[in-house]
Amino acid sequence: MPETVTQDLPANPTTAPLPDQSLGRRAAASPWRVSRRSARANPSAIREILKLADQPGMISLAGGLPSPLSFPLDAIRAATARVLAETPHEALQYAPSEGFAPLRGWVAEHLAGHGMDVDPAQVLVTAGSQQGLDLVGKVVLDPGSTVAVETPTYLGALQAFTLADARFAALDGDVDGPSPAALRRLGEAADPARCVYLLPNFQNPSGRCIPAERRAALAAAAREARVPIVEDNPYGELWYDRAPPRPLATHWPAGTVYLGSFSKVLAPGLRLGYLVAPPDLLPKFVQAKQASDLHTPGLNQRIVSAVLQSGMLAEHLPALRARYRTGRDAMDAALHAHLGARSGLGCRWQAPSGGMFFWLELPAHVDAGVLLARAVARGVAFVPGAAFHADGSGARTLRLSFVTVTAAQIDAGVGAIADALRELA
Ligand SMILES: Cc1ncc(COP(=O)(O)O)c(C=O)c1O
Repeated sequence: MPETVTQDLPANPTTAPLPDQSLGRRAAASPWRVSRRSARANPSAIREILKLADQPGMISLAGGLPSPLSFPLDAIRAATARVLAETPHEALQYAPSEGFAPLRGWVAEHLAGHGMDVDPAQVLVTAGSQQGLDLVGKVVLDPGSTVAVETPTYLGALQAFTLADARFAALDGDVDGPSPAALRRLGEAADPARCVYLLPNFQNPSGRCIPAERRAALAAAAREARVPIVEDNPYGELWYDRAPPRPLATHWPAGTVYLGSFSKVLAPGLRLGYLVAPPDLLPKFVQAKQASDLHTPGLNQRIVSAVLQSGMLAEHLPALRARYRTGRDAMDAALHAHLGARSGLGCRWQAPSGGMFFWLELPAHVDAGVLLARAVARGVAFVPGAAFHADGSGARTLRLSFVTVTAAQIDAGVGAIADALRELA
């Protein structure tokens, strides 16, 4: 079997004692017991590493953050002033759980431009696409349900689905993405996967964009196996060579929940994203959203709606792409200079055609966690790849971000990684 169920639930379905969070107090002193779900959740490896990367002078290639220099401050300032001048009471009042109607309308229109036929009533505005993942866990998964994931996949999705008590089936694949045959087999299992979580565009962490033919084959396999798709697309607008092929949702609209985000095109602090679900399923997401937070902040929704209605994306997106393309090219050049064939260091990578990340495969004898300690000592941080794998593999991989650093920092950082690798040779 190419796919592996990797995270079995503990046999004993009781609550768990609160783990000692190293605050110097004895865990036994706490009257709290955490749920089995919560006991299974681990601190995010990325957040722990970002703490290291915060040290002065450290070059961080570890972050998953967009460049703050890309935030459209003037447009957001102007929209905020307008919303507070024109509709202050409405913006600060409780609002519908589904979201601000003009923003839902904008999303439907925007997705029509990508070939999706979406009624605004199918759109739920969320607090980022991360909330969309949490809601998928609540609405679609039972304790012990299997979710099929890519190898590697987005760590935040593994976290969200772990808190829904999911098991993971890691799909194998190749440079074009997960294998349709592996997905088809999941439908034949005694307990078929409840859904498959896919990131077709410039995946976090691998940067891979699934080509059109593979998308069609994956959607056909999912449909045949009756395994619905959760399609996560925060990076689709960040393309540097050519726009990505049409979404999986266009191949199987009734079988796809689609997640979008404004974090990478506007600013993540707005905490705004959206979920598009088939009409019969959307009310379930609305109910889960009501229980979570009633609604996404109305002020932010109105600000973003005003920003979008101004048409500024037409100028903003090309500028954003140009900024990040420069970073992508600088990192590719640095990798060739320091880790290319002539270095003899045995690393492999493929320059991404969009998104924010390079994915590096290290030679067989090198563990990325061990390399990280050496690299941090040399003033550079990255994210080891193991955390992005549901099947415990990935020890020889790492993720590098190129969007919050200068070309000089990229060169120095990649150079330091090469030096650290030489130490381990
Ligand atoms: C693949 C993927 N999905 C979802 C998210 C969450 O994004 P947000 O909640 O900011 O929309 C991220 C954030 O980096 C991501 O990389």
